[in-house]
Amino acid sequence: MRKKFIAGNWKMFTDLATAKKLTQEIVTLMAGNNKVDVAICPPFTYIQAVGEIVKGSNISLGAQNCFHEKEGAFTGEISPNMLADLGCKYVILGHSERRHKMGECDVTINKKVHAALASGLKVILCLGETLDERQANKTNDILKNQLDGSLAGVNKDNLDSLVLAYEPVWAIGTGHNATPQQAQDTHAFIRSWVSKHHGAETASKLIIQYGGSVKPDNAASLLHQADVDGGLIGGASLKADQFLGIIRAGM
Ligand code: PGA
Repeated sequence: MRKKFIAGNWKMFTDLATAKKLTQEIVTLMAGNNKVDVAICPPFTYIQAVGEIVKGSNISLGAQNCFHEKEGAFTGEISPNMLADLGCKYVILGHSERRHKMGECDVTINKKVHAALASGLKVILCLGETLDERQANKTNDILKNQLDGSLAGVNKDNLDSLVLAYEPVWAIGTGHNATPQQAQDTHAFIRSWVSKHHGAETASKLIIQYGGSVKPDNAASLLHQADVDGGLIGGASLKADQFLGIIRAGM
């Protein structure tokens, strides 16, 4: 039985005061609740402050991106080792906003995946098709390409440090979530890819999150699909009561 995993992706939101307040609220509301694994991924600048608050709690810390080198003359970049040093357990890679707004391709993402895994971080790797691609019935082809590219050279031993997040681009921040059936069908396809490349046992253990307009009122139907093992939550992770509503729906 896979334990559900809900992660909050704060994107480029909050300031220091609101980041600390939100974290404290989540820690308080989650006290004693270990039925679901939970992580929050603040902007880089607030990781340390948020890390101080989650220390000793059941909330894990994550980041939203990293560079693919350990250190060096890479002005403005943040290495996975720096994130691990601050207590991060997870890093989100290949988010659709990075793919579509920052021009990241699977080759870039693949380098980051290798670097993050080498530094001991767990990777939440995002995948997803655009609306045009879905309407053209290309969803599975797109996901296959993203999986082949982003996970090239990643071996089976590393798969327990990997979480996949299916996030249809058309559902992110739009209020139009995938239907539970669309999510289930796509997650089953992703799991079949993992099974084909890394074996059925590995695939059966892998956590596959759904992301894209998950809210407290639609979370239960999505999270109770057989192959949906949690959620990557954007907008609704910025309000403690909404985030907790989603977490409770996953129990
Ligand atoms: P959303 O974002 O929940 O605001 O749609 C999800 C994400 O981008 O991870």
